[in-house]
Amino acid sequence: MSAPATTPVPAHVPQLPAGTPLAWRDGQLHLEDVPLHTLAREHGTPLFVYSQAAILGAARAWQDAFKGRDALVCYAVKANASLAILRLLAAAGCGFDIVSGGELERVLAAGAQPGRIVFSGVGKTHAEMRRALQAGIACFNVESLAELDELSAVASECGVAAPIAIRVNPDVDARTHPYISTGLRGNKFGIAHAEARAAYRHAATLPWVRVVGIDCHIGSQITESAPYAEALERVLDLAEAIEADGTALAHIDLGGGLGIDYAGEAPPAPAALWGELFARLDARGFGARRLIVEPGRSIVGNAGVCLTQVLRLKAGEAKNFCIVDAAMSELPRPALYQSWHRIVPLNEPPVGSTPPVWDVVGPICESGDWLGRDRPLAVQPGEFLAALGAGAYCMSMASRYNSRPLPAEVLVDGSHARLIRRREAPQDAWQHELS
Ligand code: LLP
Repeated sequence: MSAPATTPVPAHVPQLPAGTPLAWRDGQLHLEDVPLHTLAREHGTPLFVYSQAAILGAARAWQDAFKGRDALVCYAVKANASLAILRLLAAAGCGFDIVSGGELERVLAAGAQPGRIVFSGVGKTHAEMRRALQAGIACFNVESLAELDELSAVASECGVAAPIAIRVNPDVDARTHPYISTGLRGNKFGIAHAEARAAYRHAATLPWVRVVGIDCHIGSQITESAPYAEALERVLDLAEAIEADGTALAHIDLGGGLGIDYAGEAPPAPAALWGELFARLDARGFGARRLIVEPGRSIVGNAGVCLTQVLRLKAGEAKNFCIVDAAMSELPRPALYQSWHRIVPLNEPPVGSTPPVWDVVGPICESGDWLGRDRPLAVQPGEFLAALGAGAYCMSMASRYNSRPLPAEVLVDGSHARLIRRREAPQDAWQHELS
């Protein structure tokens, strides 16, 4: 990536996030060495564009945080499941955290090594268990006693012992949005801390279950290290008790959840977070234990943008609306979590301009279909905008609501841009329908 230009950007334009592959050069927003407006023109909008260097750099930052330790970085596929991205990460030595049979097939198609796959989720079906057992995955993260017994029965039918970790709900507040907080007593995830020891005793009696580890995941978009430290201490308390009961734990999986800079948040880098966590692991004699992490957002989130074109401007009675061709179908996070994504023009506006303030909204027939509220933007119909932080939980959560075809995706590597998903035609969406 070339150095960012030094040209001053007007104060109303959001600062680009730290460590971004984006830069202003010659008045144009570039991703790596590609001016984004050329991609918007060539491929149409809405369009997702990702930086290969940013994805690989973020994965490397995770791997480097564990240098000299025994660890496996399992990318959480749900953040962005595009095959080309999974292929990049598999080739970079990442494992994968999956939560469905669909994700299993995707990572296998992308060249994942089965021995580097962990399978999380509260609702694994028997068919999914069977397929994962036959593929030879590293570990099932088991979320209930019922699942443990069912997995044991399926494993016995298959004649393959199931490697398991029990996902413990540590009852720790991740201090994030309630919809993406998963380690609290009231959440559907994991087995309660107080019941986990008994669950391990039960697992030890099941001949087709092989205990390999302990697991927890407390939430997503976590921006401080304290909740992780708290969760780790609680997991280690349990690990000591479980091992005292005679069950060895080959690995500790602390899940994913590290946040990114959407609006100036400053989460710790993986190395800083794990520096702190290793001090605790070392102090308690677990420093040499195999570690698994499941980062998703922190690998792809700020590696991607969603490009959109301004369709028209509409002055309302109470608000001004900037109507764009992307919607909650491609960028569902504002509608779902009231989340904030930076929205920037692809052409740098003149310095000193004080543009009007707009609610940036999509064409979908719901008032919840907004991408950003009260944004100062110097825009005209036909111009392009980029929603930043769109690499995670956007395309992977995209829908065809209002019969909108799924958008295209492009992967940039230096000055080279490659289409990794063709834009759907309306007909593609009805190919499985019978009339
Ligand atoms: N492991 C497990 C078991 C998970 O449930 C998740 C995310 C991850 C790992 C990856 O977490 P990450 O590192 O990406 O934070 N759609 C929401 C986020 C949902 C996260 C669900 N679980 C959003 O857009 O904010």
